[in-house]
Amino acid sequence: MNFFGKPLQIGTTSLRNRVILAPLAGVSDIPFRRICRELGAGLTYVEMLSSIAVYRRNKRTLDMLARHSDEDVLGVQVTGPTPDLVENAVEFLDRQPFDTIDINIGCPVRKVVASGSGSAMLRDPDRLTETVRRARNATSKPLSAKFRLGFFRKHINVGDTAERIAREGVDMVTVHGRSRDEKYDTPVDLKGIQTGIQHARESAVRPIVAVGNGDITGIRSALRMREITSCDAVMISRGALGNPWIFKEILDGQPADPTMEEWLDVVMRHLSYHEEHYGDNQLSAVLTRKHLLWYIKGFPCNKDHGARLSHSSSLDESRGILRDYASAWPRDLRRFEGSLISESRFGTSSKYDPKNDMDRSHDRGVGTLT
Ligand SMILES: Cc1cc2nc3c(=O)[nH]c(=O)nc-3n(C[C@H](O)[C@H](O)[C@H](O)COP(=O)(O)O)c2cc1C
Repeated sequence: MNFFGKPLQIGTTSLRNRVILAPLAGVSDIPFRRICRELGAGLTYVEMLSSIAVYRRNKRTLDMLARHSDEDVLGVQVTGPTPDLVENAVEFLDRQPFDTIDINIGCPVRKVVASGSGSAMLRDPDRLTETVRRARNATSKPLSAKFRLGFFRKHINVGDTAERIAREGVDMVTVHGRSRDEKYDTPVDLKGIQTGIQHARESAVRPIVAVGNGDITGIRSALRMREITSCDAVMISRGALGNPWIFKEILDGQPADPTMEEWLDVVMRHLSYHEEHYGDNQLSAVLTRKHLLWYIKGFPCNKDHGARLSHSSSLDESRGILRDYASAWPRDLRRFEGSLISESRFGTSSKYDPKNDMDRSHDRGVGTLT
């Protein structure tokens, strides 16, 4: 067993390993979480919730709190804007079936930041401290915070942020190695993460788990994250899109590109979990499209099938296209076989950039509370 396969304790919650699926707005729903868990994820999260939407008991937000019986460990994440609202949301979430609660101090989306939530808190250290303090007092469940290196690259304050958060008694910190103005494009700054982790450990008032996040696309980048930052665990984000095998790869310590047969099996299973959760209707088919387009990367000549998948209007139609596609190739053809692109293949250069999706439609009901 390698380092990432070792169990990990976050407060009272035990994880079977150290590879975590990040909260991903618009992506980390029950079907995707189940697939990632089956392929090894030691902890998964519900996508970020707005404390305002929680306060309003917004139906869509409450629907996102559902947990499948397969999910043995599950976290939830909430964001600002005020200490009052976060305290209120954490009190509410404390009574829901979650094993750990995270505060988002990193979201760069314009509407989220304009409301004072997400990474806006990095510019207001006193409000940040008060928010974490009130959240800590509102729950005895494991509490964590996920934050960026700073709001502006020119003003990195990760050391101070990490100290303030750790001093309030959180059980875990996740450091995403970019500033708010870097959004998702700039290569992750591992030294910046190391600084955050070091400051969090030095200021911690109880055992604290430190997690590194950013640009992890396989075993090599996970090892590099661990080596440079000395993190206790890694959190996977875009590296898992269309590639849940990343968890297996990091746990096995070697590439885990599936054969066509293994690939089809997982994609079909994802679709069946999807159908179980959303039903078989047009909206359900539309919701799977982005996943299917991510999945078909890495096998040859997928343009035509990609176009058909992106217009599919039923799950059965998508299944037919996938079967048709897979049948044109040997069952033992390996994904990315012969590819020289290595780990950068899941990087940010793809035409479909999920962060745009997040900007458009996943502001999670933030805004002003009127
Ligand atoms: C589509 C999408 C949705 C995201 N949603 C969330 C979220 O709900 N909560 C959060 O803390 N981070 C969210 N993030 C940020 C990621 O968790 C992660 O911090 C960031 O993508 C950097 O990691 P990466 O370089 O491995 O992708 C999101 C990112 C993307 C691309």
